[in-house]
Amino acid sequence: MASQTRRRLWLFAILFLLGAHMTTAQESPLSLRELAAQNDFRIGAAVYTSHLNDPAHAETLSREFNMLTPENEAKFCELQAQPGQFDFRRLDQLVAFAQQHDMEVHGHTLVWHQCLPSWVANGQFSRDEAIGILRDHIYTVVGRYQGRIPIWDVVNEGIADGGSGLRDTPWHAMIGDDYIELAFRFAHEADPNALLFYNDYGAEAMNAKSDAIYAMVSDFVERGVPIHGVGLQAHFTLNTINSGSIARNIQRLGELGLQVQITEMDVRYEGDTTADILSQQADDYREMLQTCLDSDYCTAFIVWGVTDKFSWLRGANLGFFNNPIVEPLLFDDNYQPKPAYHALLDALGQYSD
Ligand code: G3I
Repeated sequence: MASQTRRRLWLFAILFLLGAHMTTAQESPLSLRELAAQNDFRIGAAVYTSHLNDPAHAETLSREFNMLTPENEAKFCELQAQPGQFDFRRLDQLVAFAQQHDMEVHGHTLVWHQCLPSWVANGQFSRDEAIGILRDHIYTVVGRYQGRIPIWDVVNEGIADGGSGLRDTPWHAMIGDDYIELAFRFAHEADPNALLFYNDYGAEAMNAKSDAIYAMVSDFVERGVPIHGVGLQAHFTLNTINSGSIARNIQRLGELGLQVQITEMDVRYEGDTTADILSQQADDYREMLQTCLDSDYCTAFIVWGVTDKFSWLRGANLGFFNNPIVEPLLFDDNYQPKPAYHALLDALGQYSD
């Protein structure tokens, strides 16, 4: 065969293969994580150590998310169940997983009224003793993970529902109103580079509770208390999102110089899962992410779990909710993406460069 014909055949073959590859490459969808990376945005999920034993869980988590929140492992009762006896094994496992997969860890949470061991909750400590316990816990935990956990929910759910003041908790009872400020100051002393957040639920939109949070963090900013952001948990009931009001709340917090993050989103409903419910759920997720992305101040969007099968909402005795077959997250029990997942892809895609 003439050498010119051979060259033309080789050229044709190369162009054909390149074309095929480009078609394939163009067709392969980007993950949430890949789209988020194009916007320097954090997309995260809560994870419980034991769930990492499921290979599909670990694979989905590292493929789709660039941030993880320890669902329970960084809480007081998990880390210091007995006075002075810290157990970091499970949190270390999650931090190692995050480092292995180039993910950021959103630390959750240093100070809360739940997951508080009885030796603290029922300890009958003086104010100074309680402040010492608070400082020692925060110094020990935040200090250990300095440079590995760049952001902390310092205080979780410290404002009373309805915004009538501070929630009545053991920390508040033992120390007084300034326990929240002290917690932020101790966390900053333990890691001056960590971003320190206040985190709460039911205060996403403009309401009495978000007004009370705004008043507290405004005071902190004015007095130089080290705080960098507010977490909106976003545990929603289906079709109840008021994105305009949420946008106004994010805006006023941002204008204080604070970041806002969506920290624990899931969308629940009673009864069986229908196509209409999954469609509305997808709209809810899309609306919340778009509201975050439309803002200059919203820096992360975290869902409270990877797969429906491990959702806390499937648990019994929640008191406020009972639907053991609820499907509140982005991936179903078999890690198959749901309409809500595709809705987030759409929202992120339209913001990508
Ligand atoms: O690990 C123990 C296990 O050894 C024991 O056999 C079992 C039976 O009691 O309990 C297990 O611990 C449970 C833990 O979840 C891990 O499954 C605790 O009892 C249970 O109270 C704990 O619930 C967590 C809850 O916070 C309280 O800490 C949920 O998983 C978690 O999703 C939920 O998350 C909270 C956020 O931290 C704050 N915002 C609200 C959100 C939902 O409540």
